[in-house]
Amino acid sequence: MSACNFAIEKRPHCDQSCPEDDNSPSIIDDDWPGYSLELFSYPTHYAGDLQCVVVPHGVIMDRTERLARNIMDDLGDHDIVVLCVLKGGYQFCADLVDKIKALSCNSDRTIPMRVHFIRLKSYLNDQSTEDLHILGAEDLSFLAGKGIIGTGKTLTALLKHVKAFQPKMIKVAGLLVKRVPRRTASLPDYVGFEIPDRFVVGYALDYNEYFRDLNHICVISDSGKMKYKI
Ligand code: HPA
Ligand code: MG
Repeated sequence: MSACNFAIEKRPHCDQSCPEDDNSPSIIDDDWPGYSLELFSYPTHYAGDLQCVVVPHGVIMDRTERLARNIMDDLGDHDIVVLCVLKGGYQFCADLVDKIKALSCNSDRTIPMRVHFIRLKSYLNDQSTEDLHILGAEDLSFLAGKGIIGTGKTLTALLKHVKAFQPKMIKVAGLLVKRVPRRTASLPDYVGFEIPDRFVVGYALDYNEYFRDLNHICVISDSGKMKYKI
């Protein structure tokens, strides 16, 4: 069984002073070994390609439900235009939209929601390349005067692009934020998990297009990197 360096840090004790609308992420620490792959099921074609599970699928879903509630509380009665950032954000976006829909159905104020897609590409192997490609985004004029929730990464460039279309409000939801030494990029308004600065795959996050069909968020093994390297 393999392990890697991750931890779910104990959050401060949550008593009555714990705010209802707490938007802080769940923190996964640098020195925790992660979950053994043997504890969960995963596609057998990835046997040997993964080191450990960082965030199991069920935990992702539960955390996403809470983010959906925070978003509903903040946005009130406004219409929402969701801008899903493909490809890595598709699963999170789909699940977040589902959770918002479910909460909305079960409350007396339903939120009209439309979903659009934008595609970004900036990674080769496990390295970020300087050139960010924004694909399928020529006309975002439908955003004018609307509230938006974006889901995805490479935020700064995307936000610049989106702001040019003058939406009334922009909110960003990201499932993961990496703890990097000198963070200059803007942070999402809603964050699922803060994780160590390691390359992770699964839940639609890829390594050269592989691992999107894995439900859990995992660390790729060295042999997995070699196997799928371009
Ligand atoms: N995994 C997959 N895609 C990514 C990552 C990652 O850790 N970081 C930025 N793009
Ligand atoms: Mg990718």
